[in-house]
Amino acid sequence: MLRQSTAERYAVQFPQSQALFAKAQNMIPRGVSHDQWYAMPFSLFMTQGKGSHLWDVDGNEYIDYYGGHGGKMLGHAHPAVVEAAQKQLERGVQYGTCCDLSLAWAALIQKLVPSAERIEFTNSGTEAVMMGIRLARAFTGRSKIVRFQFHFAGGYDAVAVGYKEPFDIPLSGGILPPAVQDTIVIPANDEERLEDALKKRDVAVLIVEAAGGSSGVVGIKPPFYKAMRELTKKYGSLLFFDEIVTGFRYSPGGVQAAVGIRPDLTSLGKGITGMVPGAGAIVGCQDVMNMLLFQNDHWNRYQRVSHSGTFNANPFCAATGIAYLNIIATGRPTQEANRKARMLRDGMQHQLEGYGITGCVYDSGFSVVHLYLGSCDQQGCCDRTVCLNAAKVRASDAGLALYMNLALNGVKVPVRGYDFFVSAVHTPEDIQKTVAAFGKSLAAMLDENKIVKRS
Ligand SMILES: Cc1ncc(COP(=O)(O)O)c(C=O)c1O
Repeated sequence: MLRQSTAERYAVQFPQSQALFAKAQNMIPRGVSHDQWYAMPFSLFMTQGKGSHLWDVDGNEYIDYYGGHGGKMLGHAHPAVVEAAQKQLERGVQYGTCCDLSLAWAALIQKLVPSAERIEFTNSGTEAVMMGIRLARAFTGRSKIVRFQFHFAGGYDAVAVGYKEPFDIPLSGGILPPAVQDTIVIPANDEERLEDALKKRDVAVLIVEAAGGSSGVVGIKPPFYKAMRELTKKYGSLLFFDEIVTGFRYSPGGVQAAVGIRPDLTSLGKGITGMVPGAGAIVGCQDVMNMLLFQNDHWNRYQRVSHSGTFNANPFCAATGIAYLNIIATGRPTQEANRKARMLRDGMQHQLEGYGITGCVYDSGFSVVHLYLGSCDQQGCCDRTVCLNAAKVRASDAGLALYMNLALNGVKVPVRGYDFFVSAVHTPEDIQKTVAAFGKSLAAMLDENKIVKRS
């Protein structure tokens, strides 16, 4: 008897998701509400999340490694966050003015994040980045932004180039050339190219995903942090760390606390509210953040940076954020997540080797595990932490095949298939099951020629 293909097994195991995906086409363009949720032949629909697990509409259970797009260090529905949310719901979630809780929340962020002299709450990471760029341009009086290839920074138009090749073409239709004409994209880890980009002294800000492009798929070599700080200072540009994923994950104070480099601006998101919607803040040094101050009429109308937002610094996000960040502040979640990530990394690498597949599983130096299927000059001589190979290609068809096979084996990863965001609440049993599921997935992918054995 012929074995069922991955696509056939996917349709058999997830019929309710398939039906909902078809139904969604009549209401929601493309059937999903985030480009990165889109899977062919259909996306999965979930009903519940608890701890490290998710459940779908067909009753399947998964170990979740997307973790709220990388933010969930404490898994789904953590009891402390749920309790804070329930209490605050009864007291109201938006007062249309300041609330005392937002100050306790801001104080906690100031304590954790070294560069957070001042904090402006936003409603998303995208908005935090947008505000950061606005502040930088207003403060320096310059227009240009420098970004690195493969670095993601959310949905704001000015950062819509650089993430995907070709790097000079905006990620989306509807973004007109003037929106990106001041954005310069260069390779990361290249001091000479960075100095060249900065030395005309027309760059307002260098914006960097703090652990490297898309949470360390292409990392940052340690000495480059110092180079970024010194070169930006030398040429009067600001240094902006996007710590929306790394902020409360890499260490309780993000990459900046771990590497000892103080950026002028930092965007935070996701975990800042305990993974409750409305997560974002732009934080930074007082001088730059003072662009938000009200002063005289002329300043207010012509120079001041303006910012509004109905849900800014609302008491609901403050309550859940405080509950979450108090746990993060102990440092234990970072340690636990790093430990589990290392177990996952080594277990998956062992499977690759067992199946004779050329590739590498690395942990980017913290709790995000990445997979690369292919060869690399550094193979065998690097320690599988920070990957500097910017030339590696992670093919989307193999990534989708891996995503589907892992789902069939009870593991949920982003649709691109190659990234695993590990949390503090993943258990050793979760990791063992995931490593086994990865092995089964590799076997199925070999069967269907999605990957090949080393010759
Ligand atoms: C590095 C980075 N920057 C910015 C964003 C945008 O944040 P949000 O989705 O909250 O707008 C994200 C979201 O995934 C991100 O990973």
